[in-house]
Amino acid sequence: MIKFKHKNKLTASNLIQPIFIDEALKKPRLIKGLGKNFSHTVKSAQSTISIDINKGVKNFIFFIVPKKKQKKPEDFNFHYQSLSKIKKKFGNRIVMIVDTCLCSVTIDGHCGISHKNKINLKETHKSLGIAADTFIQAGADIIAPSDMMKGTTKYLKSLFKKKKFKTPIMSYSSKFFSSFYGPFRNAAKSSPKKFDRSSYQLPVHDRKKAIQSSIMNANQGASCLMVKPGITSIDLIREIKNKTKLPTGAYQVSGEYASLQYLSKNKLGDFEKLYKESLSAIHRAGADFIITYGARDIVKHL
Ligand code: PBG
Repeated sequence: MIKFKHKNKLTASNLIQPIFIDEALKKPRLIKGLGKNFSHTVKSAQSTISIDINKGVKNFIFFIVPKKKQKKPEDFNFHYQSLSKIKKKFGNRIVMIVDTCLCSVTIDGHCGISHKNKINLKETHKSLGIAADTFIQAGADIIAPSDMMKGTTKYLKSLFKKKKFKTPIMSYSSKFFSSFYGPFRNAAKSSPKKFDRSSYQLPVHDRKKAIQSSIMNANQGASCLMVKPGITSIDLIREIKNKTKLPTGAYQVSGEYASLQYLSKNKLGDFEKLYKESLSAIHRAGADFIITYGARDIVKHL
């Protein structure tokens, strides 16, 4: 089912293009720092995906931003509407991966449901379960939980078993508490309020914990794993792969991509060369797949 596999050469089948859909928009809006990436309406997302498919992109990861924010998210109707329209239009011409998190839906921008600055795991899992169920009903091919809460993969696996879903889980299994997520949080409107994400994301200095986190998600039933950010985490990829035997990829995050854009905008480097070099390094480190904001621009030049 999961076809991501490291080959000698990076190919289009190893790359995943992010797509943002924002309910508040009447027309697409450029995302600051991310080159030609836009936050989309459902319609403009469809046009972009058509063009991307013609360029050779097959894999997409979706970030859906609904207007309504909820204390305990249980209404994922805008997600359902957008995802099902996309899947109906493109069918198996795309692999539809859906980022599964609460940060674009909660009132305080946290990836889980919190009370008095503390995450409530039980409520969070329940809400993520409703989300994943809805996304699968809408046609998601892969569910990608990025919340980083303890036991999410296990919770989703048992829910899928009950519901007889075969949908694979792409776990954001080693995701660090990073300052490289800035441009994304603007687009996803997901900056956390009141407290930061250090209670659930991993400390950058702790290699053991990071490896352990991926192994744990593998043991809980994830079909593939991921390190995030990309360049700052590449040292972990081979070890995770060797220990889990699962496809392991990297998310070259918004701040990494934006920094390359800024170098080239300020005439301090050539964008295409910088970009290719960064992807090559992630690939060299063993990544079976790379989520990257320039997938659509690079597929023809690999
Ligand atoms: C949601 C999520 C984030 C990213 C992907 N999924 C933000 C965060 O964890 O704060 C970041 C991606 C990027 O910066 O490109 N939890």
